[in-house]
Amino acid sequence: MNIWLRNPFIIFITLFLLFSCTKKDPYSCISCHRGLHPGLVSDFENSKMSDHFSCEKCHGIKHSSKKDVSKTVLPVTATCQNCHEEKADQYLNGKHSIAFKAIESLPFTHNQPNAFIKGRKGCGGCHSAGFDKISDRYEKNSLKPKYGMGCINCHTRHMFSKKEAQEPESCKTCHTGFDHAQYEMWSGSKHGSIYLSNRAKGMDTKRVPKCQTCHMVNGNHNVITSWGFFGVRAFEKDQRWANDREVIFKSLGFIDSEGKKTDFYNKAVKLKMIRTDESEFNKIRNSMVRTCSKCHSKSFVMNNFKNTEEMMREADKLLAQAIREITIKEKEIPKMFSFYDVNTIYQEVLFNMFMDHRMKSFQAGFHMNPDYSTWYGYAKMKQDLIKIKESLK
Ligand code: HEC
Ligand code: HEC
Ligand code: HEC
Ligand code: HEC
Ligand code: HEC
Ligand code: HEC
Ligand code: HEC
Ligand code: HEC
Repeated sequence: MNIWLRNPFIIFITLFLLFSCTKKDPYSCISCHRGLHPGLVSDFENSKMSDHFSCEKCHGIKHSSKKDVSKTVLPVTATCQNCHEEKADQYLNGKHSIAFKAIESLPFTHNQPNAFIKGRKGCGGCHSAGFDKISDRYEKNSLKPKYGMGCINCHTRHMFSKKEAQEPESCKTCHTGFDHAQYEMWSGSKHGSIYLSNRAKGMDTKRVPKCQTCHMVNGNHNVITSWGFFGVRAFEKDQRWANDREVIFKSLGFIDSEGKKTDFYNKAVKLKMIRTDESEFNKIRNSMVRTCSKCHSKSFVMNNFKNTEEMMREADKLLAQAIREITIKEKEIPKMFSFYDVNTIYQEVLFNMFMDHRMKSFQAGFHMNPDYSTWYGYAKMKQDLIKIKESLK
């Protein structure tokens, strides 16, 4: 008789091994892919999810060889939502999930080279979130990139790590640079410099906040702030500020020269680029104040908000003045949203005044970085105004 059949122990072990292999990788995805890209497979094997299932849970089973690769499915938010309903629902109610819709909504996006959008070398690189249905991804003639989905912006493939996402560097690739230098502002602030130096020494980092402490309280994936990126809201009690904002709204194309709301305004409200709901604004603000109040007095915190908003008002005053000067010369309101597709020096300076310097003057206020508020923000706006006046002569 065969030695295999004679020894029940060997039979047991063999069956067990066979069973556990097929259970872990029933479609041989891993065994074939290990030879193709071992780095990818070892990341997945180091992820917590690999204890529970294999590749097919996200990519389907329609492809199983070199010849049918095109049948593979690339996952979308809904794929993760099947098992992580709460996180996905929160995420879908927040700002990240509409990042692609935001760039699509701008009138000039279609002038950008396609590689910038679909190829993810520019706007599309940071804004590729927003595929909720598999069909979104494969929409014909769509501007949407083939690769890129929202959850991996912080839980990188194929480790999908919670720990990695909890570090401020997971936000850095996007929240950096020209018009949203939050990483630089935070890392240079007292909060950031204490965090980074304590982390490097293995000391307690919890005494200071990182991005997630303030923007993802208790791991909430509904990420949104009161003012938002552009720092424009439709309601304003201060009449002078409201007048300046009206000029800015006209230049952004939100209202026409007669003050009527445009189609772009309606899109921008839907995507929450403009904040119109005062009670929602206050609700988000109050929750932020509660977070700060874990470590500071309420009056210290409110003082910080009050002063930042005063900075915004001063910055808007300069921006509106620049727009008014150009309007007198051109007899027409300059279009600020044309990005770098402009013909004159003063339009180019105006764009930078809005996108670069005005942003820094208030974003740095919210992120406690006096250097950015002053020298890269308000002071530059003053310079911009001089340049605009000079080039209008
Ligand atoms: C016989 C080998 C083999 C098996 C088995 C196999 N694959 Fe692949 N797979 C490939 C090859 C080859 C490619 C193309 C790789 C390349 O472009 O470098 C590929 C590509 C892919 C891609 C990338 C598609 C893209 O558009 O970038 C995914 C995802 C994928 N496979 C998932 C799976 C899953 C899930 C299974 C199991 C159900 C599986 N594979 C089984 C060989 C295999
Ligand atoms: C079939 C169900 C299923 C799907 C689909 C799924 N997950 Fe998971 N995920 C799990 C399970 C189960 C765990 C818990 C693993 C553990 O703690 O042992 C987990 C854990 C995680 C974690 C925490 C890992 C850690 O380090 O603690 C993250 C992050 C995560 N998944 C992200 C995703 C993303 C992103 C997607 C979509 C691309 C996704 N998951 C799709 C079942 C799933
Ligand atoms: C480095 C990454 C990155 C690149 C490249 C990038 N963006 Fe963004 N974009 C962001 C981030 C981060 C935000 C949110 C910033 C904030 O709220 O302060 C944002 C916000 C926006 C918003 C505002 C969304 C809203 O609802 O308030 C628009 C519109 C936008 N970007 C358009 C573009 C366009 C168009 C391009 C290409 C010309 C582009 N972005 C390139 C990262 C990027
Ligand atoms: C929890 C869900 C999940 C599992 C499980 C998973 N993937 Fe992926 N995979 C993704 C996501 C998300 C992307 C990124 C899609 C994109 O770029 O839009 C991706 C992309 C890919 C790509 C193309 C991009 C690249 O980096 O090359 C390949 C190849 C791939 N996966 C192979 C695999 C293989 C092989 C396995 C099993 C070892 C696996 N995946 C398991 C979610 C998963
Ligand atoms: C902006 C960054 C970011 C994005 C985008 C993001 N996550 Fe997370 N995720 C985090 C952070 C940070 C944590 C850790 C939260 C905490 O400290 O409890 C986390 C935790 C998780 C966990 C672990 C929950 C637990 O406590 O065990 C899961 C599961 C998860 N995310 C799934 C997802 C899914 C699914 C998506 C896409 C729908 C997604 N995440 C998108 C940053 C992000
Ligand atoms: C101490 C808390 C705190 C920390 C830490 C923090 N932020 Fe903020 N952040 C704020 C506040 C407050 C606002 C403005 C909220 C409002 O509109 O009322 C804000 C606003 C934002 C905005 C909207 C545009 C803007 O800048 O005003 C983005 C995007 C943002 N933060 C990203 C980040 C990122 C990325 C990090 C980490 C590098 C970070 N934040 C760290 C408190 C914080
Ligand atoms: C892949 C790029 C990317 C990464 C990584 C990323 N973000 Fe964002 N974030 C964006 C874009 C793009 C937007 C603007 C989306 C929109 O409003 O349409 C945004 C918006 C935000 C906003 C909302 C601003 C508003 O309008 O109210 C906050 C706050 C924010 N991100 C914080 C974070 C934090 C914290 C992390 C890290 C845990 C992070 N982000 C990681 C690209 C990214
Ligand atoms: C986890 C605790 C923690 C949270 C949450 C926190 N801070 Fe801080 N903050 C600190 C510590 C510690 C310092 C460093 C103290 C110092 O500079 O003397 C600091 C410093 C500051 C400073 C600069 C120091 C100064 O005296 O001018 C400001 C401003 C500030 N925080 C405002 C805020 C605001 C506003 C929020 C909420 C948006 C906030 N902090 C959230 C712990 C925290």
